[in-house]
Amino acid sequence: MNDQQYWTSHPAARSRPGKVPLLLPDVNLLMATDRGVFSADRIDRGTRFLLLNGPPLEMGPVDLMDLGCGYGPIACALAIRNPEATVWAVDVNERARALCRANASAAGLDGVRVVAPEEIPKELTFDAIWSNPPIRIGKSALQDLLSRWLGRLATDGTAHLVVQRHLGADSLARWLDDQGWTTIRRGSRKGFRLLDVAKHSEEPLNEKS
Ligand SMILES: C[S@@+](CC[C@H](N)C(=O)[O-])C[C@H]1O[C@@H](n2cnc3c(N)ncnc32)[C@H](O)[C@@H]1O
Repeated sequence: MNDQQYWTSHPAARSRPGKVPLLLPDVNLLMATDRGVFSADRIDRGTRFLLLNGPPLEMGPVDLMDLGCGYGPIACALAIRNPEATVWAVDVNERARALCRANASAAGLDGVRVVAPEEIPKELTFDAIWSNPPIRIGKSALQDLLSRWLGRLATDGTAHLVVQRHLGADSLARWLDDQGWTTIRRGSRKGFRLLDVAKHSEEPLNEKS
């Protein structure tokens, strides 16, 4: 698929439904996909890296966000890991939202709420944001996007972002630090960086693994 297409609200690519497995130690789903959404042919390697190496979830009735949910591998995995959570799955792409909704429903994941960005309740804050963010929208659009949603983290909230090194993960981490976020490199493998971003902390950028 053309990389230019997947973050539009109405993808032009003609529909060609498919299925991809999401297999993790604690998750086994066959997910509906389609042309016009990100990584329709297989679970993205960065997404898999995030889901395998992200931190344990806070349990209980927390509010989580999957920023840029696509067809929903992150949102569905989070909802399986914490069935009491409300997982706000957000995407601009309506085809992606429909797929994510269908995938959550097929898996019986009632905690997944699939919405367009403007449908997020105004006062809501998030205990954690998980994201394989849309790097290809461009640096300044990405910075605006992250500023907007990181600003909605609860006081002790953290964000977990997977970014390809060659697409600017390290400069993004520096920019986040410069904006006053504490950014820690939780992991790094095969060209991917896994960044933990926290609202209030004095810890410097370093690598834990
Ligand atoms: C790298 S893809 C990740 C998709 C999915 N989470 C996955 O792991 O397969 C990033 C997603 O962000 C979405 N996106 C782009 N701009 C956005 C915005 N302003 N707000 C929310 N989502 C956006 C894209 O449509 C795309 O689905």
